[in-house]
Amino acid sequence: MRRIRIFDTTLRDGEQSPGASMNVDEKVQVARQLARLGVDVIEAGFAISSEGDFESIKRIGAEVDGPVIASLARAKEADIKKAWEALRDIKESKRRIHTFHSTSDIHLKHQFRISREEALKRSVQMVGLARSLVNDVEFSPMDATRTELPYLAEVVGAVIAAGASTVNIPDTVGYTVPAEFFEIIKYLFNHVPNIADAVISVHCHNDLGLAVANSLAAVSAGAGQVECTINGIGERAGNCSMEEIVMALRTRKDFFQADTSVHSEEIMRSSRLITKITGISVQPNKAIVGANAFAHESGIHQDGLLKEKATYEIMRPESVGLGSTRLVLGKHSGRHAFRTRLQELGYSLPEEGMESAFQRFKRLADQKKDIYDEDLEVLVSETELSKTPEIYSVLELHISSGTSEAPTARLKMKIGEAAAEHTSGGDGPVDATYKAIAALTRTGSTLQKFEVKSITGGMDAIGEVFVTLEEDGRTVRGQGADTDIIVAAAKAYVNALNKLAAKKAQGNQLRSEL
Ligand code: KIV
Ligand code: ZN
Repeated sequence: MRRIRIFDTTLRDGEQSPGASMNVDEKVQVARQLARLGVDVIEAGFAISSEGDFESIKRIGAEVDGPVIASLARAKEADIKKAWEALRDIKESKRRIHTFHSTSDIHLKHQFRISREEALKRSVQMVGLARSLVNDVEFSPMDATRTELPYLAEVVGAVIAAGASTVNIPDTVGYTVPAEFFEIIKYLFNHVPNIADAVISVHCHNDLGLAVANSLAAVSAGAGQVECTINGIGERAGNCSMEEIVMALRTRKDFFQADTSVHSEEIMRSSRLITKITGISVQPNKAIVGANAFAHESGIHQDGLLKEKATYEIMRPESVGLGSTRLVLGKHSGRHAFRTRLQELGYSLPEEGMESAFQRFKRLADQKKDIYDEDLEVLVSETELSKTPEIYSVLELHISSGTSEAPTARLKMKIGEAAAEHTSGGDGPVDATYKAIAALTRTGSTLQKFEVKSITGGMDAIGEVFVTLEEDGRTVRGQGADTDIIVAAAKAYVNALNKLAAKKAQGNQLRSEL
């Protein structure tokens, strides 16, 4: 059985999804979850692209144990030196520079205006420079699937000779199809004499909906690493989805004779975390993590399932962390039980974080009889997310609304060190609340997206609200959770306003090129 390495690029290519930017604390939180998931490599950012990416790589390297931490770098001296600066404090065996240069004629002629010889020379030189700084260097010939094959093989051989221990073959524009990609990878294995000195990786985009299929074809042809993202987020139509590639290999080990080291029971939690942080929801019929992925509607299927699960179920929901909802704690549980369950779930919070999560838990237990693992995950993520400096917070909210009453919201907020109050009317209770918040904070932002979800089942379920705000080209997402959906909506709006204020304070850090 071959072990396929999982290179997770949620924090780099995933963050290139339109509007999916994450702050440094959120990236560290995702990286911790990726370590629990058991991925082999975390591409933590693109060091030269922004201060935020640089800082994230440094912090993830310092705070997250387990996976190798990679920084992306163009095949340019300044990029590689910046990547090295971000990685230098990480243990030697755990740092990787991932450098890339386009190799297709389309890119070389129209974008870079250089010859194939020049692209090859720069690639080799920059792999050499990276190799003089770290032992673990990955090289990607960008737009590989539209590159002439003999030239691609020449580049792959040359960068391996220069010290690249992983060569990644990207389908940058999501153009290839499975049978063709199989042939491309096979061609490289047959025409690059030193190919055994490196791991061949693949990085597929989903423009034609084929990213997972193409990655699987490449595994069949000998690829040993797959690059992917949680929920398949990424540039344009996204990247190969982590959960789909992992479960396809696990479920069809018999066919692929290959598997990964991912702890698949962590998949659902990882998916929910990315949705919470990016605000990008998963479609209900999405394989593995969609709300309907394990729901059987047809009577014939239900009949079969009741007789024998194997009739219509190819994976157990528990294997991806679903259906494991357990009643864990209640109103009378103390700090010890709370801490122990969080540790069992893989969370280790610092003392003050634990205390604040415990206080939130107590308040929740007063409102909600049954507390499930999913509720605890919300408490922990609220604690971790609350690291965004809080300029604004809700002190009191009173709503009146009904079939024969105009909705009004009376709101008291803390703004900086002062308290202020305002009453607003609106089309509904959320609208009235949002008008009161907007009046008190005098925000110039516009609300672009508003989404509500319930986290656990039942009448007393926690409701979660996501909002997207935009102001002067800056986009932020806020999240709030509460058993009262109007309070959750207020928390989400205020969370987004705090993020917007933090972003303004930091100044605008626009991504360069990619
Ligand atoms: O899609 C792509 O080609 C990339 C490279 C930087 C690997 O993301
Ligand atoms: Zn990509």
